[in-house]
Amino acid sequence: MRMVDIIEKKRDGKELSTEEIQFFVKGYTEGTIPDYQAASLLMAIYFQDMTERERTDLTLAMVESGDTIDLSLIEGIKCDKHSTGGVGDKVTLCLSPMVAACGVPVAKMSGRGLGHTGGTIDKLESIPGFQVELTSEQFIQQVNDIKMAVVSQSGNLTPADKKIYALRDVTGTVPSIPLIASSIMSKKIASGADAIVLDVKVGEGAFMKTVKEAEELAHAMVTIGNRVGRKTIAILSDMSQPLGYAVGNALEVKEAIDVLKGEGPEDVKELCLTLGSYMVFLSGKAPSIEKAREMLKDVLNSGKGLETFKAFIKAQGGNTAIVDHPKLLPQAKYKIEIPAEQSGYIKKIVANEIGVAAMLLGAGRETKDSSIDLSVGIVLNKKVGDFVEKGETLATIYSNKENIEEIKEKIYSNILVINDKVDKPALIKGIIA
Ligand code: URA
Repeated sequence: MRMVDIIEKKRDGKELSTEEIQFFVKGYTEGTIPDYQAASLLMAIYFQDMTERERTDLTLAMVESGDTIDLSLIEGIKCDKHSTGGVGDKVTLCLSPMVAACGVPVAKMSGRGLGHTGGTIDKLESIPGFQVELTSEQFIQQVNDIKMAVVSQSGNLTPADKKIYALRDVTGTVPSIPLIASSIMSKKIASGADAIVLDVKVGEGAFMKTVKEAEELAHAMVTIGNRVGRKTIAILSDMSQPLGYAVGNALEVKEAIDVLKGEGPEDVKELCLTLGSYMVFLSGKAPSIEKAREMLKDVLNSGKGLETFKAFIKAQGGNTAIVDHPKLLPQAKYKIEIPAEQSGYIKKIVANEIGVAAMLLGAGRETKDSSIDLSVGIVLNKKVGDFVEKGETLATIYSNKENIEEIKEKIYSNILVINDKVDKPALIKGIIA
């Protein structure tokens, strides 16, 4: 088989065979196919697209390029959740104990943040003593004992995706539905879950800017998941503004605890109930989505979710006292309130720019190797559609730097206040099953 023939076939809009896709993925991962030929094929895929069968073959070839996690020693149907990335997205922290308290085993691998989006592992590391690395025996034992564990990605999962993604990043081939869908799904499938609930973010702060694009990506991922025997569904959720109020690691942990206490922002709670209902249902712990939602509400009202969260922190070596005493989380030196410059309705809170502002404070990484400050970030005081009085606090900055003029400026220029009443955006934009 010759790589040049595969490139020409895709360039001319023809369908690649399973063997041709495997030849490309294996050869590129092993270094026998050079970057220029791989880049050429990726560009041909970008323009010519792939059939459902090709997308599934590409996903499976990437799964087979490295290790896969065997969760078969965990009792029950394992359901994973994946978010395509957003600002203020602390959902894993509150959703996992909620569904675990309903009896669903949550065996989760998470990542660190990069750029304007945060990562669950960084957030968890703001809990004093918390260990994000477990041996696979400890990981499995913990899920069997307390129904949940969240660890940092380890092992050599999908090396093909790592190489291909790095090449896409520098060849203008990131925004391609077959390439994004296979990249995300290969990692989920390699992580071993039986069922997958996808949270596809849509809006200015997300990868997918319109509902149409998000639907297309969601369809592509759901199709791949179901074709390889993993029950998969996708929820489209709003990312035109940050999720919840808090953006920044320790600040988000506190907000997640508030949700588990039955308090906290409505949007975070609602997203957890929606995603959680599908997870509980797909795991066979409820006969319907409606019943699953009731179970999750009970878990919040009874405090069982909070108890599971405490058990999870304890099992991974963290200080559980942070739950009742959030001041034990890392604290920033300065707390600066940003007053509204005019009265009116909040029209826009540009999510990715608020994420960048938090990153500039030190909450996020500019490059993969940057170190971060777990205590800093931004807590919004308003959501889109709310009324604000001139002089009332729009947002609070938590900083360890005294000079934050640039950040203040960024917040003012990315929260738009107008005179006319503004409707609140819908949180759930669609469900693809
Ligand atoms: N996230 C991924 O993991 N892969 C992509 O291609 C895009 C977003």
